[in-house]
Amino acid sequence: MSQRLTITRPDDWHLHVRDGEFLKAVLPDTAKRFARAIIMPNLKPPVVSVEQAQAYRTRILEALPSGASFTPLMTLYLTENSTAKEMEKAKSSGFIHAVKYYPAGATTNSDSGVRQWSKVEGVLEAMEELGLPLLVHGEVTDPQVDVFDRERVFIEEQLIPLALKYPKLKIVLEHITTASAVKFVLTANSNVAATVTAHHLLLNRNALFQGGIRPHHYCLPVLKREKHRQALLEAVVSGNPKFFLGTDSAPHAQNVKENACGCAGIYTAHAAIELYAEAFDSVGALDKLEAFASFYGADFYGLARNKDKITIEKQQVKVPTELPYGGQSLIPMRSGEYLLWSLVA
Ligand code: NCD
Ligand code: ZN
Repeated sequence: MSQRLTITRPDDWHLHVRDGEFLKAVLPDTAKRFARAIIMPNLKPPVVSVEQAQAYRTRILEALPSGASFTPLMTLYLTENSTAKEMEKAKSSGFIHAVKYYPAGATTNSDSGVRQWSKVEGVLEAMEELGLPLLVHGEVTDPQVDVFDRERVFIEEQLIPLALKYPKLKIVLEHITTASAVKFVLTANSNVAATVTAHHLLLNRNALFQGGIRPHHYCLPVLKREKHRQALLEAVVSGNPKFFLGTDSAPHAQNVKENACGCAGIYTAHAAIELYAEAFDSVGALDKLEAFASFYGADFYGLARNKDKITIEKQQVKVPTELPYGGQSLIPMRSGEYLLWSLVA
């Protein structure tokens, strides 16, 4: 019989589920595997108020397949117009668990993001006081900075000073991609953590040019050199609770990915835990998967760990070449190729 692994049901601490027909298309993939997910607020227009987050949460719950038990953990999008009062409202709502910082212009739907930290000082002080985590897209947007250096430069120029200025602020550096990010997280206070995606654990930047240009491997922060992928793998299998699962599964229709100016985002929700299992297995560290996927994130957010379990097995399964996506198609990671692990129940 093939090797099986049963773990506590995991949570996804960084997820894009979009809205409307797209939401209906992708949400079942996540709900099948995860008990909860931190839902990114980068809709158009962005989710900036408690009221908008509540309405979005309702749409997510309505889009769930019947019988699914899945809890969306909502976030607000930080803008230069955000207020301390809204943060208090967010905290007391009980369903908003974090606030997302996008540098203006850094990635998909980030135009409303923050240009100057000085504009959000009062808001960050309130979040620090309230224990409301700040989720950081850590890249500078300066076109003078090489795209492969944008995470490192952001950490040096902005994040280190920010963490010093707000020493009690809970910070999650999202979807880390470099050895610099690993080092920053390891040396920062215990209230600083990071999410790591499956694709950054499995792919290096060669995947962008494998036999030709590969738009479905384009995401932000962009894939990095092999030595950085190795640093991420080492961090997640070290058993350090500062590193936990966040897929950053980011669906876009095929036609906007396969485009002269294709957008950033890799869809992994169809096989998320399977892909993480493959990464951990590649270095003989499957015993470290459960805590990374199911314990450390919940602990960081101050939420109870899940009670039920999922089982995966080491069994090759072919990924469909495309998935239906609200009348369009979505090209999933490993499209037409094989996963090494599959979900049993
Ligand atoms: C995300 C998206 O498409 O919303 N894209 C991505 O490449 N990760 C935005 C983001 O998280 O940066
Ligand atoms: Zn994201």
